[in-house]
Amino acid sequence: MDHPARILFVDDEPAVLVSLGRLLRGKFDLRVAASGREALGMLEREGPFAVVVSDLRMPLMDGVALLERLGQAAPDTVRIMLTGCADLEMALRAVNQGHVFQILSKPCPADVLERALYQGLRQYQRLLAERRGQAPPKAHLGLEGLALALAGLVEAKDPQARGHQGRVAHLAAALAQELGLTGERVEQVELAAAIHDLGKVLVPPEVLAKPGPLGPAELAMVRPHAQLGQDLLGGIAFPFSLAQIVGQHHERLDGSGYPRGIVGEDILLEARIIAVADVVEAMVSPRAHRPGLGLAAALQEIEGGQGRLYDPRVAEACLGLFRERGWRFEANFEATI
Ligand SMILES: [Fe+2]
Ligand SMILES: [Fe+2]
Repeated sequence: MDHPARILFVDDEPAVLVSLGRLLRGKFDLRVAASGREALGMLEREGPFAVVVSDLRMPLMDGVALLERLGQAAPDTVRIMLTGCADLEMALRAVNQGHVFQILSKPCPADVLERALYQGLRQYQRLLAERRGQAPPKAHLGLEGLALALAGLVEAKDPQARGHQGRVAHLAAALAQELGLTGERVEQVELAAAIHDLGKVLVPPEVLAKPGPLGPAELAMVRPHAQLGQDLLGGIAFPFSLAQIVGQHHERLDGSGYPRGIVGEDILLEARIIAVADVVEAMVSPRAHRPGLGLAAALQEIEGGQGRLYDPRVAEACLGLFRERGWRFEANFEATI
């Protein structure tokens, strides 16, 4: 029996499950289990789920072990890990043993969770279609999963940037579409944007967690994240220039950016798009030490830097998108589980 949209949540903390149920019931066909054993029992009785989201830290059977067991019983089920304590070792274990599709940090903003669930459901449909021979297998699906899993790591390490990469990806994809890029390229922009700050996993956590604006010494520790992200991704054979795009997201048109200070069209178009989306999202979103600066201020920044810092066509697309088309980031910024 196919259950194309059934989602199972596994967490040993009842409070998480209650707030989750409140947030998502009505939008998804959602079941909850309070332990790995209960989850496996439900799987046996009710058949496979499309997506399983599991907490990492649970007594008796931890999340990786559960997802591994689930994979044996229902290999197509898309697996998502929810964790408050992600590190690189855990992520690799989750990806290698648990075959996770994404790692989400806890607390997780509702819009980020919702987007991950939709992506998970889409992935499940793709897997089913491939199994039925309806669609050619996409070579980069595994890499996309790995990239999205890594994206979750950054958010766990940088509590100030919860949901940042996901929202940048959302806006960057809209900009790419607005600029008339092909569907495939729009997807590539979205994927690169979803992990553009990957290098932050190698920045000391106390620097990322600092509540106020960063001083010169701290900036010197944060700035290498662009190059570090490129280095981390450089060893993986992605079918497009993912590593370079990530490495260039802080470059600016006039050469005032970093790490290389390259100019104009030497910066990949994808990176020029992500740069604009990154600035807008960062200004609009609240940080621990300040409220959001507002959309008007963010658009003013883009307008002021149009043609100097930011690609003129990308900036124009951005201004048009917000001012004329009324484009907005997804709601639920505040709600978290
Ligand atoms: Fe960045
Ligand atoms: Fe960023």
